[in-house]
Amino acid sequence: MWHGWGMWKMKWSRAAAAGLAWLAWLAVAGGLPAREGGDSPPAGPTLVFDAESKEYHATTEETNAPFVFYVTNVWTNAIVIQEVEPSCRCTVADLPAHPWILAPGASGAVTARVELDGQEEAALVRTLTFLTSVGERVVTLEVSVTAPPRRADTPLTEAERKAATVKAAADARAIFKGDCAACHADKARGLLGKELYEATCGICHDSPRRAASVPDLHGLKLPADLASWKTLIACGKPHTMMPGFAATEGGPLTELQVSSLAAYLDKTMGHPSPATGP
Ligand code: HEC
Ligand code: HEC
Repeated sequence: MWHGWGMWKMKWSRAAAAGLAWLAWLAVAGGLPAREGGDSPPAGPTLVFDAESKEYHATTEETNAPFVFYVTNVWTNAIVIQEVEPSCRCTVADLPAHPWILAPGASGAVTARVELDGQEEAALVRTLTFLTSVGERVVTLEVSVTAPPRRADTPLTEAERKAATVKAAADARAIFKGDCAACHADKARGLLGKELYEATCGICHDSPRRAASVPDLHGLKLPADLASWKTLIACGKPHTMMPGFAATEGGPLTELQVSSLAAYLDKTMGHPSPATGP
């Protein structure tokens, strides 16, 4: 018992002495020009980062931008990293230890993240300043925040797709509600014709990953005239996963949108003649 305490005390006092010696060195080295030999760092490399600057491309939906910097002590002496200071409160960095002592040849990872919650589209530049026994080192974290890619290209995970299909099979209009609406309904707002088709219909019918039950509209036997296109869009196909899209049927589309979509489809898909565009 007493022995253990003694050992601990000895280790502790040795560490404290090392810490004090280092602090003293810092005071001397910080205030005076570098001396020949002794403890002063050499002109050559001491602490090397795997990169001085790293980039992360985020979307406005991400809550943070993660970074990892690998640090190696290529010097002949131990190096102490006392602290890492981010350039703003929105950036957090984690040292493996406080202080972090890197033996000659040792290396390790420093993880950091730039908080993005609610961040709008922007190009952000943040820095991490490492306070070390061989001076200050600064690395740069660049984050470009952009709107997420077109929703129709967002693949659903298998689990999501299964859950979605179960919901849609029970009620085809489920796609206009709750979380489903972000991809299947909200994007229709204010659109007409071709753009409306791509946002509202193409998401299912033109996806290369779509379920076998979703037909390819190109080359299909389709409604023969404008009126039947309107009915199909407005009311869907009862008892299938193809819902009615008209507001009067609980869908997201206004009467004008239904008409513009019907006109576009009648022109581009309704006839065997080549498509003429919207
Ligand atoms: C949630 C996915 C989904 C969306 C979104 C969707 N459809 Fe469908 N659609 C289906 C499915 C599933 C079928 C097959 C229904 C069946 O079982 O016959 C279908 C069938 C069709 C058919 C063939 C109808 C028939 O009688 O065979 C047409 C035409 C069609 N959809 C047009 C559209 C148009 C236009 C839009 C946009 C307003 C649209 N779809 C949006 C899933 C979708
Ligand atoms: C992140 C965007 C997104 C969300 C959220 C979403 N979907 Fe989809 N959905 C798609 C895409 C994209 C497709 C086309 C198939 C593909 O690419 O995986 C699709 C296809 C479908 C289909 C056609 C069947 C198939 O797998 O091809 C149904 C039915 C459907 N979704 C229902 C729903 C329902 C119900 C919800 C809500 C529980 C929902 N979706 C939420 C993007 C989304």
